[in-house]
Amino acid sequence: MAEIILPPKDFKKKAVIQDETFYEQGQDIETFWAERAKMLKWDQKWDQVLMRDPPYYKWFLNGKINASVNCLDRWITPGDKDKIAYIWEGEMGEVRKYTYEELYTEVNKFSNVLKNLGVKKGDIVSIYMPVIPELPIAMLACARIGAPHSVVFAGFSAESLRDRMEDAESKFLITVDGYYRRGKVLKHKQKSDEAVDKLDVSKVVVVKRGGNDITMVPNRDYWWHDLMAEADEYCTPEEIDSEDLLFLMYTSGTTGKPKGVMHSTGGYLTGVLTTMKWVFDLRDDDIYWCTADIGWITGHSYMVYGPLVAHSTSILYEGSPDYPSPARWWEIIEKYKVTILYTAPTAIRMFMRWGAQWLEKHNLKSLRLLGSVGEPINPEAWLWYYRHVGNNACPIVDTWWMTETGMQMITPLPGILPLKPGSATRPFPGVAVEIRGPSGALPPGEKGDLVITQPWPSMLRGLYKAPEKYKEEYWGKYGPEAFFTGDGAIMDQDNYLWLLGRIGDVLNVAGHRLGTAEVESALVDYPLVTEAAVVGIPDEIKGQVPFAYVSLAAGVEPSDDLKDKLMKHVSKIIGPTARPKDILFSDDLPKTRSGKIMRRVLRNLATKEEIGDITTLSNPEIVQVIRERLDKKA
Ligand code: WTA
Repeated sequence: MAEIILPPKDFKKKAVIQDETFYEQGQDIETFWAERAKMLKWDQKWDQVLMRDPPYYKWFLNGKINASVNCLDRWITPGDKDKIAYIWEGEMGEVRKYTYEELYTEVNKFSNVLKNLGVKKGDIVSIYMPVIPELPIAMLACARIGAPHSVVFAGFSAESLRDRMEDAESKFLITVDGYYRRGKVLKHKQKSDEAVDKLDVSKVVVVKRGGNDITMVPNRDYWWHDLMAEADEYCTPEEIDSEDLLFLMYTSGTTGKPKGVMHSTGGYLTGVLTTMKWVFDLRDDDIYWCTADIGWITGHSYMVYGPLVAHSTSILYEGSPDYPSPARWWEIIEKYKVTILYTAPTAIRMFMRWGAQWLEKHNLKSLRLLGSVGEPINPEAWLWYYRHVGNNACPIVDTWWMTETGMQMITPLPGILPLKPGSATRPFPGVAVEIRGPSGALPPGEKGDLVITQPWPSMLRGLYKAPEKYKEEYWGKYGPEAFFTGDGAIMDQDNYLWLLGRIGDVLNVAGHRLGTAEVESALVDYPLVTEAAVVGIPDEIKGQVPFAYVSLAAGVEPSDDLKDKLMKHVSKIIGPTARPKDILFSDDLPKTRSGKIMRRVLRNLATKEEIGDITTLSNPEIVQVIRERLDKKA
């Protein structure tokens, strides 16, 4: 039996959500979600809550709603406008604070900048920036004028940015000159240029952050501060339909190239606002800190849209958790009296390794709720987080969700549910899930695929320009009314869910999704490589890391130097997270008679598990050869 942790009495008594009947009410999804949608400011009310045309679903049809109005204009009242929206801390210690009114003015101005540059409703604007205030400002300005944004994580390579801009046919880019990481300035504009120079991009706006030397291309590149200095202070928000695209977020799936997950406006805001308030037990005086990067879905939903639409105060931190020392996060919590901390298991495991002494010197008593997201959290890390960060007094909300769901889907309501370390507990009210196997729903205790059996308002609306892929990837395995998540899970006797990680060809490296096919395609992109197979292997800190098998062209000798070059190549093409932990060279790879590489065999070889049946291999002898080579390495 897993340990059970009850919500602290005082917490329970004051909790924002104490009414257990919400779970029942949530079974009528239309009434439940329509009720929640009323918390938003609609310019025109919807005339139908949900339209089902499986696998396509629409929410709040014909409703009109502008996301930037809901995040900002709404709060421009005498009582609300002076509340701090963001406290931003740069890695070097600079601090900038924005009230709702100040943020509103900046967003209005930048909306005018975008319009003056020729951005029209429906144009996709790419954003490639670290966590600085100009990033949410740019996103909200896009939302204000109805131009969907596509934010690309700043740590991604130039190639990744180029692929995404090309796929989105995006003609506009917002970027920075450089930014700080562990005290050094990274040359970001140079990376942006590498991507943009080969594309038909009309305008690039550059924020001055690093102060490093850069090249500005006349009539294409403009400084943010120059344009802002001349911009008008008010921009009339566009009329936006509930189903209009708010943003694209590229994420890894089973193919070599990431796909643009489409999120629309009304349903998305309904989902993120409800979870923001209910899951984080949000109160007016909370100081909330999500440590993610805005470049991921977690940042979109729970650093920008969720917190602002809920009128809360959030911390944004630009830099590394260990700069200048592993105490940085705890200093931030103490300094700003953070009450809610939302982070990832990888970070927690890293802090465990650095040791509790880095926390002990700091007063973390302001904390009252902790959250986890991005990967399964192992009970050991959960308990460490509970004890050392939460001082045995803060409930932990382990929130399961994904880019495609837009909002948290499986998570405790902290004032109601007893917690079990390592379990994300139950679906949020209004969310329906099942554990499925080939013959249907599985009973408690059996491992299977996690599927979502009812539509939810913040669900993806499609994959950009890839309708077939959308149907195949999510609605192929169990039909158009059951969303296949790609995660394995098990339900226990108390109907608590235990997530088991990704099934198949997508890895989760330190909370970042990565397709094995993406890494393979980066490897074969290298001239001397003929074939590559990538599998995920467990890693103590990062959860999973890629391990690669590579075949070289005839006559090419394997060497450490070549291995090193291949690793660097993968980093360059995708980004450092994709760098394989190790590479094994092999003249041949285990294949079926139809020529398909058997990744299962390669994975089990790498992790030293039972190989299982290999009778369908055309070259079974290679298994032994690879095994010996791996043993020699170890
Ligand atoms: C994994 C991140 C277990 C899962 C929000 C999912 C989790 C993938 C959890 C989505 C959790 C996320 N417990 N696994 N609490 N949260 N995951 O799209 O495998 O970057 O499919 O969205 O992360 O990653 P994505």
